[in-house]
Amino acid sequence: MSSLPFPLSTLGSDSRRLLHGRGGLYVALEHVAIDWFAPVLLVTLYADKETNSPLLQSILTEIKNTPAIAALVVQKRYLPKAPKSILYGKLPTQVFAEESGLRYHLNLDRNQNHGFFLDMKAGRDWVRSQASGQRVLNLFAYTCSLSVAAIAGGAESVLNLDMASNALSTGRRNHHLNFESALSEKARYLPHDLFKSWGRLVREAPYDLVLIDPPSQQGKSFQVEKDYPKILRRLPELITPQSHILACLNSPHHDESFLTNLFKDYHNLGRLSPSLGFEDSQPAAALKCISFAAG
Ligand SMILES: C[S@@+](CC[C@H](N)C(=O)[O-])C[C@H]1O[C@@H](n2cnc3c(N)ncnc32)[C@H](O)[C@@H]1O
Repeated sequence: MSSLPFPLSTLGSDSRRLLHGRGGLYVALEHVAIDWFAPVLLVTLYADKETNSPLLQSILTEIKNTPAIAALVVQKRYLPKAPKSILYGKLPTQVFAEESGLRYHLNLDRNQNHGFFLDMKAGRDWVRSQASGQRVLNLFAYTCSLSVAAIAGGAESVLNLDMASNALSTGRRNHHLNFESALSEKARYLPHDLFKSWGRLVREAPYDLVLIDPPSQQGKSFQVEKDYPKILRRLPELITPQSHILACLNSPHHDESFLTNLFKDYHNLGRLSPSLGFEDSQPAAALKCISFAAG
């Protein structure tokens, strides 16, 4: 019997969160996240606690009975630059996030974000189911996982905008990883600060599906209360009455009503259920993704 509060025996090839401490459902583990990116187990620690060492020791003991795990990586988010270290095994040259038959590049060897948000699986599934024949605008695209899902779902085109050109370069590689060139070319990339460059977005409008997944707070680049309303003011120039919008927000300080108030002139089609592994004792504080219809 495992002494761990999450299963290691059922690891498959799909990436998933095994323990979501921030969701408040695991006593004394609120500062821990454990993710599976086959064949690597990633433990993220958000605070320096006395319990960290015994937890890592139990995982190491359990790993010896779990041949599927090739390496254990620990990231200490509470330290400057959030360093990662390998506690067990050897990191394969290339590790991918895998999900629903699609793959995404990961950076597990660098001290930074690894490039794939597991909690957006519900969003990717929704986009894939809606995208057939659609012209998609993906705002705050990061490494373009929503774009890959859209193209897998048959999108006609996707325009990906993000101010981080490195993230968009990974996004381009993510398309080539999954699709032959004719399909990859359906995605295009705009490395711009959204609030400095609406011109090209408006010229290429309208879009059938607009995806909005900003950070909760990012220096001067994005502040929820000030900047989300700016997007709403420009939205009518980008859509038609038939368009749909997926609006997301991952701020623990804003509940669902922040989005529903902003989109009060749109039809609320409902909030997506949390992705598997991201259940939360306080759903209002967790990631919110709500779909709206324009007309
Ligand atoms: C939460 S991530 C998006 C995740 C992405 N939707 C996914 O599913 O992987 C937020 C992104 O917003 C970008 N960003 C923040 N402020 C921005 C701005 N003013 N203009 C354009 N991109 C911005 C960041 O570079 C970051 O990549």
